[in-house]
Amino acid sequence: MNRKTQMLLIPGPITLPERVLKAMAKPIVNHRGDEFHALYERIEEGLRNVFKTENNVYIISGSGTAGVDMVFQNFVYEGEKVLIPDFGEFTERVVENALKVGAEPVVVKSEWGSLPSLRSIAEAVENNNVESIFIVHNETSTGVTFRMMEEVANIARKEGILVFADTVSDLGVEPFYTDKLGVDVCVTASQKGLGGPPGLSFVSVSGKALDKGLNNPRRRSFYLDVEKIHRFHLRRETPFTPAVPLLYGMAEALEILKEEGYEERIRRHSENARMIYEFLESENIEIFPRNREYWSTAVIVFKNRGLNADIIIRRLYEEYGILIARGMSKLRNETTRIGNVGYEGRAEIEYFLDSFRKVLKDAGRQP
Ligand SMILES: Cc1ncc(COP(=O)(O)O)c(C=O)c1O
Repeated sequence: MNRKTQMLLIPGPITLPERVLKAMAKPIVNHRGDEFHALYERIEEGLRNVFKTENNVYIISGSGTAGVDMVFQNFVYEGEKVLIPDFGEFTERVVENALKVGAEPVVVKSEWGSLPSLRSIAEAVENNNVESIFIVHNETSTGVTFRMMEEVANIARKEGILVFADTVSDLGVEPFYTDKLGVDVCVTASQKGLGGPPGLSFVSVSGKALDKGLNNPRRRSFYLDVEKIHRFHLRRETPFTPAVPLLYGMAEALEILKEEGYEERIRRHSENARMIYEFLESENIEIFPRNREYWSTAVIVFKNRGLNADIIIRRLYEEYGILIARGMSKLRNETTRIGNVGYEGRAEIEYFLDSFRKVLKDAGRQP
């Protein structure tokens, strides 16, 4: 490997294999014809395999944010309360999304790098008349994973309320069984753990959530209207012109996932994360989330204290072709992020850590 072999180790998008790139160069087909229907079916089957769901999974030409928007435009009614554990940049965006549709977010906050306790979530459900709970499963800004999904879904089931999950940054990386957990709506995107190009989102919707969406007295979005999306889905189409080249790339990426095997993909990411965390600890670099149980497999966030982050990022890229990411929003200067959502295996991670070690030795430490 040399510096021409670019390796994106940001938290998505990822470095795509030739197969996916070539698939995107296929001739464009009519999105109302048989070839498109076959493409749609291939993607649908691949998505069910990674969502672990029998629910409908809708395909949206629009990045992950469009998928999250679809949840609020359809499944949360105006004036209704929605519970949102808030522990980072993306959970804050969810709160904003709720406000945009005139819903009332009931926020259970914790400081960034941590998580609200299950007890505080249960109490908030008990004390407020919420109709749904929205969980960001992997907080890409802090490197914290919410591993209490099953417990939250149990609370929701008892209360008869809906559970929404944003798995944009870790579906296909960290185990997530949509149906087994009882998640009504799960949103993810194409450019991270699913191994595809940027620009698409996918939303699985249970029968109960679909009914609620169809009965929403005020669905305001034209583009993300679930009635239209569902109606066209039944004939393996999208209501409006889809991003056909991206869909070809996605179908190929899901084929690769199937060939690798879901379990193997999860194992590979887990092994990569273990190698990276062990390396950071051996170098006395502090991991940002304070509790080991929160540590994300998909996005490894470390503190910049004692390090020259600008130099590390620049030299890794210029000398070794590896790109890692700066911290996000208010953690921009305090932290650095390593994405583990792509096709890299042991050899690539060893190359990355070897390069990282050299950069640290040369110039990466603060005097
Ligand atoms: C947890 C999470 N939610 C939502 C999004 C938004 O996705 P997109 O940038 O594809 O719109 C991201 C993007 O990184 C994310 O990490």
